[in-house]
Amino acid sequence: MISHKNIVVTGASSGIGKSIMEELLKQEGNRILAACRRAEAITGYGDNVIPFSCDLSTKEGVDALFKKAEEVFDEHIDLYFCNAGAPYYERFDYEDWDRIKHLFELNTISHIYTYSKYLHHLNGREGRLIYTISAMGEMALPGYALYAATKFAMKGFQQAVRDEAPENLQISCVYPVSTRTNFFNVGTGGRKLTPPFPVQAPEKVGKAVVKGVNKLKEHIYPCPVYLPSKYLMSVVPPVKTLYVKAQKGKLHRFVKRLEEEKRGVIEDIKLKHELRK
Ligand SMILES: NC(=O)c1ccc[n+]([C@@H]2O[C@H](COP(=O)([O-])OP(=O)(O)OC[C@H]3O[C@@H](n4cnc5c(N)ncnc54)[C@H](OP(=O)(O)O)[C@@H]3O)[C@@H](O)[C@H]2O)c1
Repeated sequence: MISHKNIVVTGASSGIGKSIMEELLKQEGNRILAACRRAEAITGYGDNVIPFSCDLSTKEGVDALFKKAEEVFDEHIDLYFCNAGAPYYERFDYEDWDRIKHLFELNTISHIYTYSKYLHHLNGREGRLIYTISAMGEMALPGYALYAATKFAMKGFQQAVRDEAPENLQISCVYPVSTRTNFFNVGTGGRKLTPPFPVQAPEKVGKAVVKGVNKLKEHIYPCPVYLPSKYLMSVVPPVKTLYVKAQKGKLHRFVKRLEEEKRGVIEDIKLKHELRK
């Protein structure tokens, strides 16, 4: 049972992080340092939740979060949920170094840097680090090339450090499927998109995560049909082909809509120009 613990949850203002936090608050005595960029959105939880604003895609943001945690928790972080992250939903066909860098900074570099910070913070004491990876860290889909790359990187990282980490540090990784959060809004710039099937509620994911962490599970799969589906796709490849084809069609329609939107703006500008003549 996770109770009377000092816990950091990143990405706590919304979606999966928020649900994890609410699940942890059901147990007695847990204190949570709840981090995201707009911590003013975290209200109504009482004294056991300390909202903290920081940009976790930067070294300064991660350092500031550790500094704050060491202040408010009297030096010891028992559990650290490294969850904040975001996608892009797009056709990957552009040359934009900064865009690529940003997603890796948020979803990968920040999480890897957190591992070292936490290891040093623990200095031999017991601790638990929980990474929200993604089903997309095991199976990439069209539209999520860059996002999947950031998550595959985390899958590789955890695999190696698991065998390097000292015994005082326990690592758990979570692989959610599509979850009804702000994620798809962020990834599409607020455009309509049907997420890849199956889709879960964030509350279910939060519950499964805390249950898995309680049981000291190394890998947590919140969706019960994910592993059987993955197995089915490996033994009956046409199932995977059909599934990927559906995602490919969705991306094609999304890109077409974007192009129409852009054309609309260009035509609008042309029209204004004509009217000014
Ligand atoms: N939803 C899914 O389908 C799904 C599936 C698999 C894995 N995941 C993973 O689950 C994790 C949580 O995503 P979610 O679905 O819960 O999405 P979400 O509802 O958009 O929540 C993302 C959280 O991260 C915070 N955040 C974003 N950028 C940040 C930054 N630069 N610095 C600090 N905090 C930042 C957001 O708050 P602010 O905007 O205030 O910063 C928010 O609290 C991510 O790692 C995501 O990759 C999601």
